[in-house]
Parts: sequence; C-alpha cells; structure tokens
Amino acid sequence: MDHFQLCESMLIGHEQIDAEHQALVDVLNHGLDLLATSPQVEAVWDVLDDFRTKLSEHITNEEVIMSRHGFTDLECEKAEHLNALACLDDLVERHLDEHDFETLLRDIAGLMLGLFIKSDMSFKVYLEKIKGC
Ligand SMILES: [Fe+2]
Ligand SMILES: [Fe+2]
Repeated sequence: MDHFQLCESMLIGHEQIDAEHQALVDVLNHGLDLLATSPQVEAVWDVLDDFRTKLSEHITNEEVIMSRHGFTDLECEKAEHLNALACLDDLVERHLDEHDFETLLRDIAGLMLGLFIKSDMSFKVYLEKIKGC
C-alpha cells in the first residue's frame, strides 16, 4: 500500500535519482505494511537496516551523478547529506526506547521528503538550466 508517495513536484528529472528516491519510499511503505500485518520488532529492524543501506548507496550515487554533471552546489549538497544523516540517527535513537515504530517510520518519511529530497531541488533547477542550453 502506498502510505507515502512522491508527487510530481518531488521528481528531480534524473532517472536514476528519481528511481532511488522511489525505492526509499517503497521501503518505508513496506515497513508500514509490515506493522499493520505482523508487528514483529525484528522485521521492522530489517526494514530500518534496508532503508539505511539504500540511503547510503543513494547518497554515494547521487554525489557521483552530481559531480559528473558539474553541479556547482555539490559541496553544499554533501553538507546537507551529512546533516540529514545526523538527523536520521537522532530520530532513530529517540524512538529506540519507545518502540513506536509507526511514528518512527512516519518521521523518517517526513525527514526524507522534507530534508533529503528538498535539498535535491537545487540540482533539479541546475539540470533544467543545463538541459535548456
Ligand atoms: Fe536524493
Ligand atoms: Fe541529495
């Protein structure tokens, strides 16, 4: 079930980046589905591990893609990634004791849409600019 969706305005316009963002959203949707059917702690930890792994891979890939395109704000984006990762760690740590995984997954989705994808919007603008040349 699509608890979270990437709307049109959240697409960056780069096939791989958009696909990886969608894959991250899919992991969170899967996590909420799991909680609704069999709320086992181990299964949710697997979802969180999967999200963390995919997010790390995405950040690495995205920075390579941005560099290849000569993105002028790359250093800024790298700093945004580090900041957002620290926020993610903080979020997970705060929810550890509560075992409120639904809130945690929803907060991670908020972080993803509000920090990670929002910061990619400057690359979207940059891509549109260089495609228009
Ligand atoms: Fe991204
Ligand atoms: Fe990014």
